[in-house]
Amino acid sequence: MHTTAIAHPNIAFIKYWGNQDDALRIPMNGSLSMNLQALTTTTSVEFCEDLKQDDLVIDGQSASPEVLQRVSTFLDIIRAQMPDQHLKAIVISNNNFPMSTGIASSAAAFAALAAAASQAAGLDLDETTLSRLARRGSGSACRSIPSGFVEWQAGTCDEDSYAHSIAAPDHWALVDLIAVVSSTPKQVGSSAGHALAASSPIQKARVADCPRRLQICRTAILQRDFVTFAEIVEQDSNLMHAVMMSSTPSLLYWEPATIAIMQQVLKWRSEGLQVCYTIDAGSNVHLLCPQQDADDVEAQLQSMESIQSIYRSSVGDGVRLV
Ligand code: DP6
Repeated sequence: MHTTAIAHPNIAFIKYWGNQDDALRIPMNGSLSMNLQALTTTTSVEFCEDLKQDDLVIDGQSASPEVLQRVSTFLDIIRAQMPDQHLKAIVISNNNFPMSTGIASSAAAFAALAAAASQAAGLDLDETTLSRLARRGSGSACRSIPSGFVEWQAGTCDEDSYAHSIAAPDHWALVDLIAVVSSTPKQVGSSAGHALAASSPIQKARVADCPRRLQICRTAILQRDFVTFAEIVEQDSNLMHAVMMSSTPSLLYWEPATIAIMQQVLKWRSEGLQVCYTIDAGSNVHLLCPQQDADDVEAQLQSMESIQSIYRSSVGDGVRLV
């Protein structure tokens, strides 16, 4: 059976960085995010009798052996639950945004793949089971399964580590403006980065303080309190990057343009614009703002040099079959 699913990437307000279990992707701490409606990954999966190995095409191009291996390893988890465990799959995936921009694509990729492949395999998984499955492909993908504002409870094992929605997309009209400052592929991807987190002497403190940050951020979202939200989101991003920079070896993802935007965001906020920044494992900056401030923030961003492109998104839905 041929099945297609659509998923959106998500931007984390409280970040996932470091695992209790790298293989199962059980995180050190819980995290909180919103899905990005404007960005989509559409993935079709079909298990076939006559294939010798899995076949993966992304945006019209055959995937590299490394990417194919990661997807095949993920499909093995689904195959283990199929009557015929030897069936290989044809996977065709398309993004409506260029992967080269470094916008988190693995979350949407594995959320869409988990939904399409499990359905194609004849499994009818509920949201929690699907979130647990997507987590095995990419940790942050478990947050792209539920809709809107989503919290991933860290848990301690495969069964209790999954995400759930804390508010629907229309609960709060937040906008994410993504300022792309570099399209060079990052030197160290998230998976390798997670494995370095424990080598930072401040990771323990970051993890220990996480329940406090989650509580503040969750409450700020539920009360639509942007002032509190902005402070805690920036603090959490700064803490994660402090861990990255103080790991061995050190990870420094920021470009000069990244810092220039961070400084401008602080200045614009002090002048009355409602906006804050957050940065993932890369140099691009996500500017979060209430919808009524988004045009002004976007205009300010456009006047800055060294920004290659800007993507704009409202709060998104969860994964769905089409
Ligand atoms: C910085 O989910 O990409 O974006 O599980 O190895 O695929 P893997 O890692 P990934 O890590 C995301 C890290 C982050 C923070 C976040 O999204 O919470």
